[in-house]
Amino acid sequence: MSELNKIALQIISNGKGILAADESTATMTKRLDSVKVNSNENSRLLFRQTLFSSLSMKECIGGVILYDETIRQKTTTGKTIPELINSKGALTGIKVDTGAKVLAGSKQEKVTEGLDGLRERLKDYYNLGARFTKWRGVYLISDKYPSDLSISANAHALARYAALVQETGMVPIIEPEVLMDGNHSAKDCFNKTSEVIKKCYEELELNNVNLSGTILKPNMILPGASSDEKISKEDVAELTLECLKNNVPSSVPGIAFLSGGQTEIEATANLNQINIKNNTDFIMTYSYGRALQQSALKFWSKDINNTIGTQEIFDHRAKMCTLAAKGKWSENLENS
Ligand code: 13P
Repeated sequence: MSELNKIALQIISNGKGILAADESTATMTKRLDSVKVNSNENSRLLFRQTLFSSLSMKECIGGVILYDETIRQKTTTGKTIPELINSKGALTGIKVDTGAKVLAGSKQEKVTEGLDGLRERLKDYYNLGARFTKWRGVYLISDKYPSDLSISANAHALARYAALVQETGMVPIIEPEVLMDGNHSAKDCFNKTSEVIKKCYEELELNNVNLSGTILKPNMILPGASSDEKISKEDVAELTLECLKNNVPSSVPGIAFLSGGQTEIEATANLNQINIKNNTDFIMTYSYGRALQQSALKFWSKDINNTIGTQEIFDHRAKMCTLAAKGKWSENLENS
């Protein structure tokens, strides 16, 4: 087993999942604005430190993805944030892309940037304690999107990123996110996501990336957020598993889904069903941002010094997600 494969398995085995707390300062400011908390370095640190100190970290969270600001911060007790995360038995991850920018040649689509100077930045992050990384490609979906150009440009960037990350001794999370925005059907999402993922693996193989030392972070197969289509969790699970089985090489150890705008309960119920039906060798777990943090953030915003109360809300969510990663969640556990 390679060192990179060991790291990947440490993050996602035994029902553990990933806490995606890597919102950029602009996105975190939007989240804090929505609950009427002033966004500044200290408030962002306090909320994140509160979550990372929670009891469920040891049992449920194998890795935490940070943003550049957070990986350099110290907690109020003097530990660095990576030291706090490590003390809970989890690994520190870091978002290393510099965001999705307008893709020249396709006015409405985006390509993720950040390859320039990446090798040097990765060394810095490794020295700060990071052992895995994230890069997110985003894809619009409609009858004409994603275009071949967007599929190809984002796959190319993801693969070059992944090769550089492995060179530095870290595990790259490959995140091609087909967005939920739009009125497309689940079948459209299935078809386009399949194309996107297939292209990513073509490029990853071309760039000699060791797939056993990577984690895929895809969207689940769902109808668009403004579509009228209603879909059962059984159908979400079936389509998602079919898409991944057809397009992800078997040397990939695991898949950690993004929540992408699903509610906390939807993201948990769908992951649970995927694990009940999992007919692949892939570990299937979570790498949730909003679906792990939303309720905790709302509660915390009422009294930012109520650490214990906020942690109880986060602990509940993390435990539910970990049960779902084992296929052992049920709706009645939500109220117990
Ligand atoms: P959500 O779970 O809120 O979609 O965030 C996950 C993520 O990391 C997006 O890049």
